[in-house]
Amino acid sequence: MIVLGIETSCDDTSASVLQDETTILSNIISSQTEYHKKYGGVVPEIASRKHQEHIIPVVTEALEKAGKTIDDIQGVAVTQGPGLVGSLLTGINVAKAIAYARKLPLVGVNHLEGHLLAPHLEHEVPYPNVTLVVSGGHTNIYLVKQHGSYELLGKTRDDAAGEAFDKVAKLLDLGYPGGVVIDRLATDERCNAIAFPRPMLNDDTYDFSFSGLKTAVLYHVKNAGGELDDDMIADVVSSFQAAVVEILVKKTLDAALEHKVPAITIGGGVAANSMLRARIEEAAGKHGIPVSRPSMILCTDNAAMIAYAGLKKLLADTDFPYSMNAISRWPL
Ligand code: KG4
Ligand code: ZN
Repeated sequence: MIVLGIETSCDDTSASVLQDETTILSNIISSQTEYHKKYGGVVPEIASRKHQEHIIPVVTEALEKAGKTIDDIQGVAVTQGPGLVGSLLTGINVAKAIAYARKLPLVGVNHLEGHLLAPHLEHEVPYPNVTLVVSGGHTNIYLVKQHGSYELLGKTRDDAAGEAFDKVAKLLDLGYPGGVVIDRLATDERCNAIAFPRPMLNDDTYDFSFSGLKTAVLYHVKNAGGELDDDMIADVVSSFQAAVVEILVKKTLDAALEHKVPAITIGGGVAANSMLRARIEEAAGKHGIPVSRPSMILCTDNAAMIAYAGLKKLLADTDFPYSMNAISRWPL
C-alpha cells in the first residue's frame, strides 16, 4: 500500500510517500525556522500562513522524489492533532481535498502516535516495550503492550523537556530552536560544572517537572551578573543538559525494569539529543535492554511517521469519515 502522509501540526511543513511499512520513498520537510526565530518561538499566525504557502509545493516534491504521481497514492494520512489549530487545519484541508477528489481513504493521526511509532520505520521493535516520547510539547513515558495499545505511565507536570531546552537557550540568548544549539555547545567534560537540581528524580512516579530546573538556570545566570563568557555558557548548557538527560534516562529505565520489557524506544525532537542517545543506550545496555532510536530526521517533526501510523490504521480499517476535524488538545 502506498500512503501519502501530511504533517503540519507546528512549524514544519512535511509530506511523505510511504510504501508498505518500511519503505520511505520520500520525506520532504520545509522548515519555517527563519520566519519564527526573530520572535524566539513559533508564532501561530505566521505558522499557518507559511503552511498555506508551502504545503502544495511540499506535497508535489514528495511525489516527485518518490517517483510517483497522485494516481499511485492509495490512502492519505494527516496529523489531526494535537498542535496549533490553524496549522493543523491547513494540512487537514489539503489531505481532505486530495482524498475526496481521488476517492481515497483518509485517516487522521495523533502526532504523538507518530513520534511513538517512528522507531518502527527503521527497526524491528519487540513488544511489549517502554517508549519515551520527548518533544517541544510533551514528555511522556508509555508502556506499549502491542501496536495500538499505549498505557501512559508518566508525563511532565509543567514544561516539556524540549520546551526547557528552548527556554534555557532563549535566556542565554543562544537562538532558536534551542535544543539543537545546546546539544552543539554542551560537552561531557563540563556536564558536572554546575550542580543543577534534578526535580522528581527519585520520587516514585514516572512524572517529570522541568520548570524548576529552568528557574535554577535563570538564577545562576542572574547571580553571575547576567554577562556570561563562552566558557561559562558552555558550563551552564552542559550541566543543564546533563540534568535533563539524567532524569529522562532514569525514569525510562526504571519503567522498563519495573515492567520487565525487552526493549526501549525513544522518539520526538529531544530524542535527537546526542547525550540522551548515548546515555540511554549505555544505561539500558547494562541491563541487556536494547534501545531503538529513530535517525535524526525521524526524531523531529516529519510526515513519514504520520504516514506510517496512518498506514497501520488503514490496513486495519479504511472506513474513516471525511468529516474529521482538527483536535488541538488530544492526549495519547
Ligand atoms: O518533535 P518536535 O520536532 O516538535 C514537537 O512535537 O514539539 O520537537 C521539537 C523540540 C524542540 O523543543 C527542540 O528544541 C527539541 O525538540 N530538539 C532538541 C534537539 N533537536 C530538537 N532538544 C535537544 N537536543 C536536540 N538535538
Ligand atoms: Zn512533534
